[in-house]
Amino acid sequence: MKKFLITGALALSTALCAPAVIAFGGPDASPSEATQSALGIGHNFEPLRDAAERSGRTLGVAYAPHLASSDSQYRSIAEREFSIITAENAMKWDATEPQRGQFRWTEADAVVQFAQDNDAEVYGHTLVWHSQLPQWAANLTDPAELRTVMVDHINSVAGRYAGDIAAWDVVNEAFEDNGSRRQSVFQRVLGDGYIEEAFRAARAADPEAKLCINDYSTDWINAKSTAIYDLVKDFKERNVPIDCVGFQSHLIVGQVPTNFQQNLQRFVDLGVDVRITELDIRMSTPPSAANLATQAQDYRKVFQACWNVDGCTGVTLWGITDSYSWIPQVFPGQGAALPWNDDYSTKAALGELAEVIGAQHVSDPDPDPTDPTDPTDPTDPPGDALCAVVPQVNAWNTGYTANLTIRNTGSVAINGWELTIGLPEGHQLTQGWSAEFSQSGNDIVASNAAWNATISPGNSVGIGFNATYQGTSADLGPFTLNGIACDES
Ligand code: G3I
Repeated sequence: MKKFLITGALALSTALCAPAVIAFGGPDASPSEATQSALGIGHNFEPLRDAAERSGRTLGVAYAPHLASSDSQYRSIAEREFSIITAENAMKWDATEPQRGQFRWTEADAVVQFAQDNDAEVYGHTLVWHSQLPQWAANLTDPAELRTVMVDHINSVAGRYAGDIAAWDVVNEAFEDNGSRRQSVFQRVLGDGYIEEAFRAARAADPEAKLCINDYSTDWINAKSTAIYDLVKDFKERNVPIDCVGFQSHLIVGQVPTNFQQNLQRFVDLGVDVRITELDIRMSTPPSAANLATQAQDYRKVFQACWNVDGCTGVTLWGITDSYSWIPQVFPGQGAALPWNDDYSTKAALGELAEVIGAQHVSDPDPDPTDPTDPTDPTDPPGDALCAVVPQVNAWNTGYTANLTIRNTGSVAINGWELTIGLPEGHQLTQGWSAEFSQSGNDIVASNAAWNATISPGNSVGIGFNATYQGTSADLGPFTLNGIACDES
């Protein structure tokens, strides 16, 4: 209960304004949903992969086996939410063939095993890339030798997992931003034809896998994406095997290309699938509320661009939690790019993407009682609050003005709301603003006005009312939003 004290005529007293927490699970949420939403992993959606599957798409994640071993929450979320798994590093050249002809499969095998154990697909990343390429290969200068080495590598890696891989990034990051070829060892020593050679070798090694070319900064229609477009067009015209194009989409907050969907569509029109392969949206850290709100809309836009394009097979997030993201290492002072915070509470971005893909609210998002992330586990510490009400009360001897801030601290937009405010005996509403007010017994009910019906995650609305009262002290509350009792802890 929020208390305010009246100490005499015209005494001005401010309510103790510790936020009252309203558990909220969206306008249709039941009380049990709301309670559960405030715990555990911090969202109350069905497994996101299930929603993606209904539209024939997959939701993917970059996955690191060592993190799944050391962090059970990372593992649980990877298991629950994603239907296609990309090895963040385990299938790269330096991981699989650190010495010429000497292959290490432990980590890559673990990725495939994890996917199969969880009825997920595997997205192969990556066969030919200038980065994370061991020195012994990067130093080769003889074309015949490098060609043999490249084809042997493709045969060995793609061959080992033939039949287990949905799609391979056969060649990664082959272009510069200006559309010219990147001067990698492959380009310098083998010339323009190396990409075609790599794709032909990959098809031979695993005839079932879709074969993709993948790159970053290609989300806009620009010189780089157009260079890839021209390559795909040429391959298609000459029957060189190519099935898909990956758009990494390592984006900066507020900078989602306005023509992203159009860009995806022009590739699909060439007869290939497209995919957002490495999505994250970074910002300066610590993140501001404004940037997090913009980021949420950015996630919405990226998912919507894909979901609007037949032939976009889905989106892969480049990680789960900010804790392990590659970004701060490469861009110091940047991060907060993923839908899960360091502590696995969810950002507003998660609610936005869940809404785009049509994820349903469920009463228990994780019903396994042995699972440490089970939100029904009473020993779990509370996660993010989903909604808060902060009352500020200016009182005099016979009346008071109450201003209430209702904040959506969850990850789902509140669309239409009704706030019930409990009152002590003897209080009488006289006037209200910024909502429709009525009184029934000891409750005031405030319903949204047309202009403030929607409270986006992270946003607030302010309302207020005047009332008269009798007595010398009073409690204001409890508060309930859309029928859900406030948690005032
Ligand atoms: O494995 C070594 C470990 O033995 C050593 O102790 C440690 C010391 O720093 O480094 C470890 O290697 C790191 C490796 O990740 C595995 O964790 C490298 O330093 C680190 O540079 C490497 O970063 C990866 C990066 O690719 C390398 O280019 C990131 O995890 C990975 O997320 C990132 O992913 C790339 C995609 O493959 C392609 N597109 C861009 C994307 C982001 O850069």
